[in-house]
Amino acid sequence: MQALEIIARKRDGSEHSEDEIRFLLNGYLAGTVADYQMAAWLMAVCTRGMTRSETLALTHALVESGEVLELSDIEGVKVDKHSTGGVGDKVTLIAAPLAAACGVKVPKLSGRALAHTGGTLDKLESVPGLTVDLEPERFKRQVREIGLAVAAQSPRMVPADRALYALRDVTATVPSLPLIASSVMSKKLAAGADAIVLDVKAGRGAFMPDVPSAVELAREMVDLGESAGRRTVALVTAMDNPLGRTVGNALEVAEALEVLGGGGDAELRDVSVVVAGEMCRLAGIDADVERVLSAGGGRETFEQMLAAQGGRLEAGLPEAAVRLEVKAEAGGWVEGIDALEVGLTNLALGAGRLRKEDRIDPGAGISIERGVGEEVRAGDVLAVIHAASSALAEAAAPRLRAAWRLAAAPVERPPHVLERVAT
Ligand code: URA
Repeated sequence: MQALEIIARKRDGSEHSEDEIRFLLNGYLAGTVADYQMAAWLMAVCTRGMTRSETLALTHALVESGEVLELSDIEGVKVDKHSTGGVGDKVTLIAAPLAAACGVKVPKLSGRALAHTGGTLDKLESVPGLTVDLEPERFKRQVREIGLAVAAQSPRMVPADRALYALRDVTATVPSLPLIASSVMSKKLAAGADAIVLDVKAGRGAFMPDVPSAVELAREMVDLGESAGRRTVALVTAMDNPLGRTVGNALEVAEALEVLGGGGDAELRDVSVVVAGEMCRLAGIDADVERVLSAGGGRETFEQMLAAQGGRLEAGLPEAAVRLEVKAEAGGWVEGIDALEVGLTNLALGAGRLRKEDRIDPGAGISIERGVGEEVRAGDVLAVIHAASSALAEAAAPRLRAAWRLAAAPVERPPHVLERVAT
């Protein structure tokens, strides 16, 4: 077998065998298939696509490239949750402890901020003292005792995805449905849970720009999960507007605590309850998630998890040195808040990374004072910028103001959960 032949077969639209896919991936990791050959193959996949069985073979080959987390010594159905990434998306911080408080075992490996989208690990690390680097035994003990652990994936898991992802990032080959589906699902399968709830975001602030493409990705990932013997459900949710009232690491942790305490944004609360409900259903647990939320069960579990991972909430969450109000120049009703622009502004404030080695500013971010559907008068505060310096805040203000789209007449907030995809 030759890499050259395999690349040519994909270029010409043929279907690969499992062996061909494994040959290419193993060769790439071993250094016998060159970067330029892998890049050529990835581009051929982008233009030609992959059949379901090719995508499945690629997913398995990615999983087999590294270690798999063995969770069978934890009693009960283990349920994972994954979001494809959004702006202000702190659903994991609410839904995972809620589901755990309902009795679900939640072993969760999360990621960091990617481009303009936030990452659960960065958010959690804004809690003083907290670590997301848990050795497998500590991770499992925590899941057994508290029901929930949220940690970083070990570098020994799915190394082929890491190598491929880095190459895709610099060769314009990220946006390919089979490549995204296999990348996400290989990590979920290696993480060892019995069942998976996927939150596939659609819209301006998401990877998938529209609902049909998000549904297609959701269906592909659900099929991959089910074919690998994991019960999998996907929700397609809206990401045209930021979710909830805050964007930024410590701000989002504070907002999650507020929702878990029974307050907060109604849409964020509702979607978190729906996701936690799906997690319970997959675990075979008939729970009243709303009641558990109102009784403070989710907040208690979340605080236990933070403490178990070394977090000291009592030390206070980091706050930015500067707060700048962004005011409306005209009146109307908020029709939309461009999630991509808000995400990019947040990134520029230092809440995300522009380069791999950048340090995150945990206190930086944006709080939204006028959300979609709300009435605004000229001079009202639309948002507050939290920044390390006045210069950063002033530079962000015009861009942030322009993200608000006002209408002359009242507007209804659009639905948030758009589709449910299951087998
Ligand atoms: N997230 C992933 O983990 N992989 C992709 O390819 C895209 C988003």
